[in-house]
Formats: sequence, structure tokens, C-alpha cells
Amino acid sequence: MEEMIPNEGFPKAAANQPCCVNLEAGKTYAWCTCGLSEKQPFCDGRHKKIEGMPFKSLRFESTENKEAWLCQCKMTKNPPYCDGSHNQL
Ligand code: FES
Repeated sequence: MEEMIPNEGFPKAAANQPCCVNLEAGKTYAWCTCGLSEKQPFCDGRHKKIEGMPFKSLRFESTENKEAWLCQCKMTKNPPYCDGSHNQL
């Protein structure tokens, strides 16, 4: 483990707005749930470097080619998609 930080305050809001991405049918994606990835809204494995981190990526498959708004505040109730929860931050 490279770092030790308290779990308090996680997940981190990477941004208080969603990110629009183009998803491809049949492709699997890993959405960042901890908020520390530098490849938002997707996971870059950063959570694995932190001891005790309870968050890990959320894998999902897109069933169609589509444009989607993925959550970056990490508070959505419909992950990985933005549900407007960022407006409450
Ligand atoms: S960015 Fe998280 S709910 Fe909109």
C-alpha cells in the first residue's frame, strides 16, 4: 500500500457536475466510486493504493451505443448515471 488515509469523507466528489461520455454497445466500463481517479468518470485503480479503502470500481456494460451523463459527484442513487444529486451538494 502506498498511502494510508482515513475513510472518513469518502467518496470524494470529483466534480459537482456529470460528465458526458460516448458508451459503446457490448463494452464494459469501470466507473470510479471513490472519486480519486484522475480519469473521471472512470476508475484508474487509485483506490487499490489506499489501505482500508472501502470503495472499488463499479463495472457496467452498455447495451447500446449511446451518449450518457455519468456521475462525478459520486452521490448518485442510480450509479453510474447522474440523477441530479449533485444539485444537493
Ligand atoms: S454528478 Fe453526481 S448526481 Fe449528478
